[in-house]
Amino acid sequence: MRLGERLRRIEREGRLDPTVARMKKLARRLPSGKPRDLLHGVPLGHPLHPITVHLPIGSWTAAVVLDLLPGNHSRSAHALVNTGLLATLPAVVSGLADWSQQHERQQRVGVVHAALNATGTALFAASSFARYREQGTKAKALALCGIGAVGIGGYLGAHISYYRAGGANSADALLDLTPRDWHDLGPLEGFPDGGLGGADADGVPVVVARRGRSVSAFLGLCTHMGAPLEQGELVDGCVRCPWHGSEFSLEGGTVAHGPATASLEVLETSTADGRLWVRHPGT
Ligand code: FES
Repeated sequence: MRLGERLRRIEREGRLDPTVARMKKLARRLPSGKPRDLLHGVPLGHPLHPITVHLPIGSWTAAVVLDLLPGNHSRSAHALVNTGLLATLPAVVSGLADWSQQHERQQRVGVVHAALNATGTALFAASSFARYREQGTKAKALALCGIGAVGIGGYLGAHISYYRAGGANSADALLDLTPRDWHDLGPLEGFPDGGLGGADADGVPVVVARRGRSVSAFLGLCTHMGAPLEQGELVDGCVRCPWHGSEFSLEGGTVAHGPATASLEVLETSTADGRLWVRHPGT
């Protein structure tokens, strides 16, 4: 069994659940509204967390490389270790915000990911202190252990992001399956006025928002975690996701509120003889 598949054991490990519950309590203290959207990366259109982790990981990796090079680079290495320590806060807060809106299997792996990164951070803090006391060998050994812990933590983070698609656009594959030709979704009156209705275009789920004769259609899965949007609500000109409350504007499907960061794909619509037709947006 390959390593990535072995990590699925962590996903099923119920003994992590009390820690998951404590972290959820902590996550509830994060700000809501626009600051929370910022932590998710809504203004960027991508999750913020992968960007924020570059500075600590990059600084600490550079410090370890300097430690291993011949010559005296202690001042530069110490500065890099401290830069990494200062940069952990945005990485932690944005990661916690994203983690709080994930599925149980991702959250269990996320707890171990966080514990390893916390261990790595503590080791780099101890390394910084040792550098301050001019205990060079000890400082280098601590940094080496620290980068090891952060490296394994990063591997688990990649499992959450790539194996389990945490942070990816969960509706992206639908775009390639959407019919290029016009597809009949049935009578327009069959979709609830002032609400959301679901339909199917050659097996591709579609969500339809109708207000009288005005109609918008989107690919029907939430870009955050793939929730069926037809089960959501139409609120203030937005489609609200039934799972974590992301809101997508009827004007172009853009994200009004996270945790989703990717917009909904808008389908081209047409009505003829009281029937609603849709087709791929890029046709
Ligand atoms: S699935 Fe999470 S907000 Fe839609």
